[in-house]
Amino acid sequence: MKASELFNVEGRVVAITGAAGGIGLAYAEVMAANGAKVNLIDIDPLALTVAVGRLRADGSEVHGEFADVTKPDTVRQAFANIVERHGRLDVVFANAGISGGPGFLNGAGERNPAGAIENLSLDVWERVIATNTTSVFLTLQTVVPYMKQQQGGGRIIVTSSISASKTETLVSSIYATSKAAVGYLVRQAAHELAKYDILVNAISPGPVITNIGGGRLKDADARKPFERAAPLGRIATTQDLQGAALYLASPASSLVTGAQILIDGGTALGPAD
Ligand SMILES: NC(=O)c1ccc[n+]([C@@H]2O[C@H](COP(=O)([O-])OP(=O)(O)OC[C@H]3O[C@@H](n4cnc5c(N)ncnc54)[C@H](O)[C@@H]3O)[C@@H](O)[C@H]2O)c1
Repeated sequence: MKASELFNVEGRVVAITGAAGGIGLAYAEVMAANGAKVNLIDIDPLALTVAVGRLRADGSEVHGEFADVTKPDTVRQAFANIVERHGRLDVVFANAGISGGPGFLNGAGERNPAGAIENLSLDVWERVIATNTTSVFLTLQTVVPYMKQQQGGGRIIVTSSISASKTETLVSSIYATSKAAVGYLVRQAAHELAKYDILVNAISPGPVITNIGGGRLKDADARKPFERAAPLGRIATTQDLQGAALYLASPASSLVTGAQILIDGGTALGPAD
């Protein structure tokens, strides 16, 4: 089969949470560039307007919806608007998420008191679990009824993290816990929803250069410990995630569900020379 058929997403109705920047915007770009009808959902109205305008300039069909993924009413309204607009919902990326702050070690391998369990704030715990974990539950609850009632089922692609499958030293325990729960929810949902042809998978990146955590990975020094930990010697740009997004949204992955695609430069394998 030709790649153009295998990875065809033309005309598919796609929705992406946290799509005004970072990884979500990269998903939106690859979907739009391949002819999908793309709906960007974000909490930041200004960034949303800029992102939609930029993608439309290429002639793609792109729309923006405001929602805070921690607020059920806004999430339900955003997806209702999308289904009203297009009549269906083929692919949903549950992507929005935030950092939980630093880990218990710093880049030099020394103890970092701010990341010690006893110093972590309950407020941050609640915000991160709400944004990274409960939001995925809420998005699933919102979109599954639409996908169940339409012909052909659907695809749900969750941005998890390498933190879902290994412990972290440089990244907060709160964040790692939030993503571990997401990883398990993906497997549970995939198992339950297979009967309805709803495929649920995770993209699990290692560190990616985005605005998360105040954009700290844009700083070359801050990247170094993460680069040392990656056998391939570098960390991801958002473009490194576009191939997996296209794969999981397209016919190429029609028998894949409950999977976690690690995009981490080999970090999960352990350090190398
Ligand atoms: N960057 C990394 O190193 C990395 C690694 C693994 C996983 N991830 C995950 O990737 C996802 C995207 O992160 P990113 O790195 O692109 O971050 P980012 O900060 O660059 O972009 C996140 C986007 O989500 C939006 N957003 C934040 N809170 C929201 C909310 N409550 N409701 C709706 N939208 C909201 C922001 O406005 C922004 O447009 C997150 O789930 C994150 O945990 C990131």
